[in-house]
Amino acid sequence: MTSHQIREQFLQFFESKGHKIVPSAPIVVKNDPTLMFTNAGMNQFKDFFLGNAEVKNARIVNTQKCLRVSGKHNDLEEVGVDTYHHTMFEMLGNWSFGDYFKKDAIAWAWELLTEVYKIDKDRLYVTIFGGDHDDKMEMDVEAYNFWKALIPEDRILSGSKKDNFWEMGETGPCGPCTEIHVDVRSDEERAKIDGHMLVNMDHPQVVEVWNLVFMQYNRMANGELKNLPATHVDTGMGFERLCMVLQAKQSNYDTDVFSTLINQVEKASGLTYQMSDSREDVAMRVISDHVRAVAFAIADGQLPSNTGAGYVIRRILRRAIRYYFSVLNITEPLVTELVETLNNQLKSVFPELNKQVELVKNVIREEEQSFLKTLEKGIEKIDQSLAQIKGKEMSGKMAFELYDTFGFPFDLTALILKEKGYSVNEASFNEELQLQKDRSRKATSSVAGDWITVHADEVEEFIGYDYLSADVKIARYRAVEQKGKQIYQLVFNVSPFYAEGGGQVGDTGFIEHEGHKTYVVNTLKENNLIIHITEKLPAQLDVTFKAKVDDAKRQQTACNHSATHLVHHALRTVLGTHVEQKGSLVNEKHLRFDFSHFSKVSEEELQQIEMLVNTAIRANVPLIEKRDTPISEAEKMGAMALFGEKYGDVVRVIKFGDSVELCGGTHVQATGEIGLFKFTTETSVAAGIRRIEAVTGEKALHVLNAEAEKVKQIAELVKAPKNVVKAVEKLVADNQSLTREIESLRALRAQGIKQDLMNKIEQNGDVSILAAEVSLDSASIKDLAFQLKAECPNLFLVLANQQDGKATVTVAIHDDLVKTKELNAGKIIREIATEIGGGGGGQPGYATAGGKNPSGIKKALERAKAFIN
Ligand code: SER
Repeated sequence: MTSHQIREQFLQFFESKGHKIVPSAPIVVKNDPTLMFTNAGMNQFKDFFLGNAEVKNARIVNTQKCLRVSGKHNDLEEVGVDTYHHTMFEMLGNWSFGDYFKKDAIAWAWELLTEVYKIDKDRLYVTIFGGDHDDKMEMDVEAYNFWKALIPEDRILSGSKKDNFWEMGETGPCGPCTEIHVDVRSDEERAKIDGHMLVNMDHPQVVEVWNLVFMQYNRMANGELKNLPATHVDTGMGFERLCMVLQAKQSNYDTDVFSTLINQVEKASGLTYQMSDSREDVAMRVISDHVRAVAFAIADGQLPSNTGAGYVIRRILRRAIRYYFSVLNITEPLVTELVETLNNQLKSVFPELNKQVELVKNVIREEEQSFLKTLEKGIEKIDQSLAQIKGKEMSGKMAFELYDTFGFPFDLTALILKEKGYSVNEASFNEELQLQKDRSRKATSSVAGDWITVHADEVEEFIGYDYLSADVKIARYRAVEQKGKQIYQLVFNVSPFYAEGGGQVGDTGFIEHEGHKTYVVNTLKENNLIIHITEKLPAQLDVTFKAKVDDAKRQQTACNHSATHLVHHALRTVLGTHVEQKGSLVNEKHLRFDFSHFSKVSEEELQQIEMLVNTAIRANVPLIEKRDTPISEAEKMGAMALFGEKYGDVVRVIKFGDSVELCGGTHVQATGEIGLFKFTTETSVAAGIRRIEAVTGEKALHVLNAEAEKVKQIAELVKAPKNVVKAVEKLVADNQSLTREIESLRALRAQGIKQDLMNKIEQNGDVSILAAEVSLDSASIKDLAFQLKAECPNLFLVLANQQDGKATVTVAIHDDLVKTKELNAGKIIREIATEIGGGGGGQPGYATAGGKNPSGIKKALERAKAFIN
């Protein structure tokens, strides 16, 4: 079976058991401070498990793009070194939200593996949770009994909390799990050592393929486990491993998921993949793995950058580059070349890559080119550093400098040094690294306490599209320590406050009870919760408050948000439909919009776009808002930005005339409220991504007035109130012709000076000597010195000048003199420079020095003369 068939069969099997097939959520996680990337299929369903969102389909099945490269689940260093871990992998999963539980989950897993996929039962082992003393939990007898009916008891192994109790992160939904392992070793090897001895022993051919998690607890910040309101099933099967089993291969990389990518790396390097542990094979695995993570992260909206999730992506890409650069000796961008192959392979499963493949390639190419340059420069830098060190060891500090200021990876430094016969102090490098980590942790750390319930939980409701004030109650709150400061997070029963999201800043305002105000300094979203940030807790918690949103700020923000939609539409009209939103920021002051486009937006195009936006504003187009629209209907309306939605999302459609967008933000009732729209900048953020910034309303008027004021000032300066441009043009032209005139006068003057100097030449035997002070700039002196040297045989020339309280001296010696008398201008200048209080150097035929003591010039000249005489 091809990998495509294997994936299809999985989905169809569960569809036949009443599951709805849904698409993968984006690999990049928004709205969850505890996660950067999707690390398990269940992430997008977290709120269903916690009871924070309403379940529409109790049974779901899909294949989810996952990335385990940060946080609790981090496999990065294993990837490529072994043959069964990956950065990006597909997780096949079936879910029950409060519907079936252990019995069906186990029975269906068994049916699929043994009857549909026809895996030999003899090769299967299962593990169950054996209980945990600290968490006061018993062994999962239920799961044991369900398995007993299907598989001999000696194939059911009991496991510890580490392997058989699944948790997404430090807190959140969790529960006992049962894992299914497959032994794909040869019969001969199986006869030697029984498979059950190798389960969970990191054996590359006895691997876990499927994990069935029985969600029933919520792990609190204090470590306590609380029962969830209902029980659920979350299963995750490693797709690449399943392909290895069903295609009878010994490694994931030998399956058709990776073989086309590996083939291409083979061609680029001229090497053959040997399925071994050699450095070359590790490199090929690393590269064909990493392209997947990087390409999909970028397609899902995460550009490589210097911080957070963007930095993780940059590091993965750089890991791939390092491997092909230093192991496969490839010095041209290679990952970029693999993107097309990957896309051809997966476009029917994950169309999001296909849609943006050109952009993805451009971004990766630029990253690769710049890092390849860093690597080249780094190698030069290492050579320079080696020239400075005594002995054969580079200090950790020096290696850290290379790493920190230069982005040069430590392991590469170590490798290069080794090849040159040097070593590096790794312990002290690690110390430096740790110090830096501590510094940045201090700057960003935040520790959240547990939620404290004031009013029994209800699903919080956002009413801020319709109301800017409301009576609210605090449902729960918690204290959070952030950068050493205590803040509070409050959740209400209803909230008029818009939580930061979709590029729009969070609302601010206050809640008030009996004249006591508590200010809401920001509003954020955590999954489906609206979190109101305050610096103090209200004196009384269990009361009804009057909540009020800062309405001036909200209105200005709404103007900027609606203008963002208009500009998005105008950009697509003027530049083309390849324009896609890549990021946006909307606050009360301005708007910023990043989009895909391959060249600078010209002045004329900007004017055209600005004109379209302002026309739409003047047309006073009314807002058409459709809440709770199913995605399919939004699609029919022609909504943009359909990627990046999670399953089950009903979306909100915002329409102003021809502009139709999915958007959760707040908007004006009609475009006329925006008043005026004006671009302020157009710049580049990354390869193929442009950024525009703009202002609206009163701010736009200020910008225009400030421009007009500038022109007025210029008009006054050039004394031409009517025709400023002409006057400035004339000024520029006059300036040019004056500059030319000055240049020719200077040349004439230099000629005169040269003549004067030639008259001052003294003879001493066959040596011509000239020592004089001239008033010329350094460039002219250099010029003059070379002319004189060329024209006067055996010339020994010393020229000095002073400017702005500084002195310079130049010594020039004719080449013949340098040879016959073994003179050296460089040496001579060092001596006479002491007279002008400075230093210098140069070549035997020409040298210069500078100093801060012009009064010494006379002495310097005399000394030079005395020397040659
Ligand atoms: N959440 C479990 C895992 O990631 C099963 O999907 O392994």
